[in-house]
Formats: sequence, C-alpha cells, structure tokens
Amino acid sequence: EKIISFSEIDSTNKFAIENLDRLPYGTVVWSLSQTSAYGRYGRSWSSGDGGLWFSIIFKPLQITEPNAYTKLLSVAVVESVRDLKYRNAQIKWPNDILINGKKVAGILTESVFTGERLKGIVVGVGLNVNNELPHELKSSATSLSSIKNEYIPLNLLIEKILRRVEVLRKKYLIRGKTKYLTRKWKKLQAFVEGDEITVSLNENEKFTGIIKRISPALLQLQSDDGKIHNIVSGEIIL
Ligand code: BTN
Repeated sequence: EKIISFSEIDSTNKFAIENLDRLPYGTVVWSLSQTSAYGRYGRSWSSGDGGLWFSIIFKPLQITEPNAYTKLLSVAVVESVRDLKYRNAQIKWPNDILINGKKVAGILTESVFTGERLKGIVVGVGLNVNNELPHELKSSATSLSSIKNEYIPLNLLIEKILRRVEVLRKKYLIRGKTKYLTRKWKKLQAFVEGDEITVSLNENEKFTGIIKRISPALLQLQSDDGKIHNIVSGEIIL
C-alpha cells in the first residue's frame, strides 16, 4: 500500500477525509506529530513526537459496516503489540486499547459521505509508543516505552500493524471466515460477558450492570432489577 508521511500535520484523519477523492484504496496517512488530533466525542488527542499516529483510507468499500473496521484495527493493534511481548494488551469496548488498565491506544472510525452515499471509511489509530505523555494523562494513559523502558522503531511497528490488517481483512472477506475476526475481538476484550461494569452514557448519566452481550455495535447490560439495557455509545469507567 501507499504511505503518505508527514513530520507534522493537524490531523491524519482530517487529511485523509479531505483528500479521500484523490487518494487510492488503502492509502495510509502517517505523521510523526499532530497539532490538532481528535478522538471520540471530538476530544483532543495528545500526539507528540515518538507516538504512532496514522489513518487508513478504505474506498471503494468491500466491507461497508464501520464497526467491522474498528474491530479490524483493534485486533490488529492488540495482536501487534502482544507480538512485541506486551502480553496483557486488551481491547476496551468500544475502541480503546489497554495495557495494565491504562489506555495505550485509541481508534477512531469515521464514515465519509457524499450526500446519502457512503463513499469511504477512514480509520485513525493513535498508539502511545515512545512519546512522552502530558502529566495530566499519566494516571489514565500509558505508552509502550514507559512500560518496558525500551525504544520501539515506529516504521517496524506500523508495518507489522498494516500487514496484520491485510491478513485479517482478507480473511474477513472469505465466506465462512467472517466470524474469525469477531471471535478474536471477543477473546481480546478487557471486559467480558458476566462482568459487572459502569458505563458513562453522557456527562451526567451512568449505568451499572452485568454484561449480557458485547459486540462493537452494542453493549447489552442487565441491571440489578433484571432490566436489559442496550448501549450503542458510551464509555466503560475504569
Ligand atoms: C479515541 O480514543 O477517542 C480515538 C483516538 C484516535 C486518535 C488518532 S491519532 C491518528 C488519527 N488522527 C486523529 O486526529 N485522530 C486519530
């Protein structure tokens, strides 16, 4: 695939979305740092030198379900990181990657439309590798280099992740093999069916219950009173 790289850019997702029409399928936009990167809920994403910040353009779409891409990248990132001997990397629903209970990566899947027509999907990955985290994030976030005190070459890591994405994506497209990715995604979850969790739904609403079902598109919780709640968007509180 083709990689377009920058030493600095505002946001690789933004660049990928704005240039989607002229960039071919599978183009990867990679930047060593970002000045206004964003995550879910439009939150800003700290992106200094040393971290891995990239976006992949998928178009035309063989897989049209945005959640499938989140699943694809989550599994590819966790498996790649585990391959580097960070054995307890896990996925936290819906799109975070944790190591030892701290966030090491986030994934942002954005659909791009012309009018009503879905013309492409951009998936952004932010992975804390050798970058220094701002002080205020240190209680909730971590980086690979701070866990094992080692320097990890970014080009090797991005290649590893991209190779995995291709393998998993091709497998997903084979009839009868689609479930393989979902099984992997489930096995790598930090929270599984039967666990009790609290989810914040918005600024002032929380919900506690036992996980009944978990998929990228839906988290189903059962509260004390037996009621089932379907959550499509929210954040598990650690
Ligand atoms: C989240 O945890 O909410 C998702 C964070 C996604 C950050 C990545 S870094 C590369 C790409 N460019 C962006 O502006 N965001 C994503």
